[in-house]
Amino acid sequence: MTRAQDMAWWQQTIAYEVYPKSFLDTRGQGTGTLAGITQKLDYLAALGVGALWITPCYKSPMVDNGYDVQDYLQIDPSFGTMADMDELIARGRERGIRMVMDLVFNHTSNECAWFVESRSSRANPKADWYIWRDAKPDGSAPTNWRSIFGGSAWEWCEERGQYYLHTFAKQQPDLNWENPQVRGALYDIANFWVDKGVGGFRIDAITYIKKPPVFEDGPADGEDGLYPVHAATANRPGILEFLHEFKREVRDGHDIFMVGEANGVAADELDQWVGANGVFDMLFEFSHTHVPMGAEEIWCRPVTWTLTDLKQALAQSQEATAHNGWYPAFFENHDQPRSTVNFFPCDGPLTSKAKVLAAVLLTTRGTPFVYQGQELGYGNATWKSIDEFDDVQTHAQYEFALGEGLDEKAALAACVRFSRDNARTPMQWDDSAYAGFSGAKPWLPVHDDYASCNVAAQETDADSVLAWYRALAALRASRPELVAGDWSELLAADERVLAFERALGDARAVTLANFSNEEATYDASLVDGLAPLAASQGAPIAGILRPLEAVVWG
Ligand code: NOJ
Repeated sequence: MTRAQDMAWWQQTIAYEVYPKSFLDTRGQGTGTLAGITQKLDYLAALGVGALWITPCYKSPMVDNGYDVQDYLQIDPSFGTMADMDELIARGRERGIRMVMDLVFNHTSNECAWFVESRSSRANPKADWYIWRDAKPDGSAPTNWRSIFGGSAWEWCEERGQYYLHTFAKQQPDLNWENPQVRGALYDIANFWVDKGVGGFRIDAITYIKKPPVFEDGPADGEDGLYPVHAATANRPGILEFLHEFKREVRDGHDIFMVGEANGVAADELDQWVGANGVFDMLFEFSHTHVPMGAEEIWCRPVTWTLTDLKQALAQSQEATAHNGWYPAFFENHDQPRSTVNFFPCDGPLTSKAKVLAAVLLTTRGTPFVYQGQELGYGNATWKSIDEFDDVQTHAQYEFALGEGLDEKAALAACVRFSRDNARTPMQWDDSAYAGFSGAKPWLPVHDDYASCNVAAQETDADSVLAWYRALAALRASRPELVAGDWSELLAADERVLAFERALGDARAVTLANFSNEEATYDASLVDGLAPLAASQGAPIAGILRPLEAVVWG
């Protein structure tokens, strides 16, 4: 049995993800700033947040909103200055909130000085800092790999007379981790941020850093004749050697945590990644987000799913991390549509759905990661045309859908459902113009419902989604079993109710969440001897859940 007091700070807290471009603009420019985050630290503290993951705010041409880094040691001027970052770190610490930097180490921007040098000739000192290959004899790309954002994963470079590999956009060339100088440079960057006093790192796209020894074509899986780069390069043998070195050089000896973004790591491999001899503290794996989206993440290929599919994915991740490492629980991030739309196979009020997911997120085993706006419970935005989207991946998915033979309406519908921009619209602070996010027209449209759905309105409404989040956060902090308790699934075969128990010594808590918009019944003996600790729709009735109701008993 783990005792709460033996756990690391990051296991006991709540993490919150900020997408800084959309959080709060203090300069009237239409995009968010670091000073905006500092201004809202009290708001975050009231949610019980102790770790704040900031998506990349380094100097960047912003082709992929910062995931194309030009200089890891500078703040992008649109966000502010390094002094603003120092201020954010310091003010956060005063409130017990530690910053978590996003390390984008699989690739850089094509405008990064390293790449500019590497591309200049085959003989320069950084010639092999990236993945360069000759063309096939007919001049075509070295392999038929499709980048994650669509189109070939190879881009021709006239200066070198070679192709370079880009797992994501062509402006995001992949680094060559086989080169020890590259690895050393990356560790130095991470240590620069450790020395600044950050609390940890989220490590981007880490499963792609080890390339296969031989580059070969794969069987085409779409009309474009290409083969997914993910299938060719994700989680290749040897990757853990790099990551053990990374851990030794950066993590060891510091009171920080590292959470890897690890698409492609299966539940049964988790022990090697986050177990006692693992490389990270936590791993974002995507088995549950793949339930509604499909594992191949092709938005125009619809998947059918049921609640038990989602429950199985969540249960597998819980079981895999029961004795190995720690689970980062999440339903939203900046790459997903809004969870109120994503995880329900039924219609129903978004606020009820948001509360159901919050109850699961904040009482499950693991560190809950709340994504900005999730605590207000809105849905996807309204999009009328493909031109309204900013996201590079959304445009690529749209083109791919057209290439697959879908008409424009159907291709747009797939993007409306799954676009990452759904998560990136401005944070809704109040009902003033642009939702109090900015004095200028924001870079993405404000959600239609901001006038009624915003922080100011929800702060004064005891029945709001925000109030529910705060209540659950306080409950979690007051009940060691919700932090340290073992997790076991209840009602595994039920197609309406997701349920689990948390147990620590004699203490027990049971979460029951009705994901259907119909009344559901369950065996009331499950909650015998327990009292309601939190109930999303007023006084609960043992044995019955109202449509889209969640109750925590303990
Ligand atoms: C994963 C990030 O979360 C996503 O936003 C980004 O586009 C890709 N990695 C590429 O860095």
